[in-house]
Amino acid sequence: MRQPMIAGNWKMFKTVHEAVVFVKELRPLVADVTGVEIVVAPPFTAIHAVAEAARNTNIGVSAQSLHWEREGAFTGEVSAGMVREAGAEYVILGHSERRTLFGDTDLTVNRRLMAALAAELTPIVCVGETLEQREGGQTLAVLDQQLKQSLDGVTGAQLAAIVVAYEPVWAIGTGRNATPAQAGEAHTHLRGRLRQWFGADAAEQCRLLYGGSVKPGNIATLIAEADVDGALVGGASLDVASFAEIVRGALGR
Ligand code: PGA
Repeated sequence: MRQPMIAGNWKMFKTVHEAVVFVKELRPLVADVTGVEIVVAPPFTAIHAVAEAARNTNIGVSAQSLHWEREGAFTGEVSAGMVREAGAEYVILGHSERRTLFGDTDLTVNRRLMAALAAELTPIVCVGETLEQREGGQTLAVLDQQLKQSLDGVTGAQLAAIVVAYEPVWAIGTGRNATPAQAGEAHTHLRGRLRQWFGADAAEQCRLLYGGSVKPGNIATLIAEADVDGALVGGASLDVASFAEIVRGALGR
């Protein structure tokens, strides 16, 4: 069985101090939770402090991106080994904000993915269509292309440890989440492709998260879909009570 995952993407929010306060408040709220993998993704600056605050708890720490080279003259970039050493065990890759604002492409997502795997980070690879693409009937074709190119060169054994997040761009930060049926359709399609490309065993183990306006009030119906294995949460992950409620919403799946 796939263990559900709830990951909070903090984007460019929270100072080191705010991030540590959050984790200290979250700890007792989720201390009794077993069976849900809980992850928070602070900005690079807070990774180390958050990892310290989360040590010996059931809360894992993720980076929000990384560069594919090990080191070098890449001003402003951070490598997989660096975030790993700082305490991250996961990394979000190819988030739509990275794609639209900072030039990430399927090709560079793939490079980052390879670097993440080499550093033994669990990648959370984001794919998703824009509103225009959905209205043009291109959703599944867009997902196919993003998935195929992002995962180029990955083995079945590696896929089992990769997390894919379906995040329709029109649902991110808009308050307009995909309906459970829309999410379910996309996820079932993605798992079918993974089965086709990587074999049934690997595809069954790969976790598929939904992201886009997930809130305490909609997590239960989204995660009730057979191929929705959890959520990547933006805005609602910034408030500790709401994030803890979303984690609890994934219990008993
Ligand atoms: P949102 O963001 O939950 O605020 O819609 C999701 C994301 O960007 O991962």
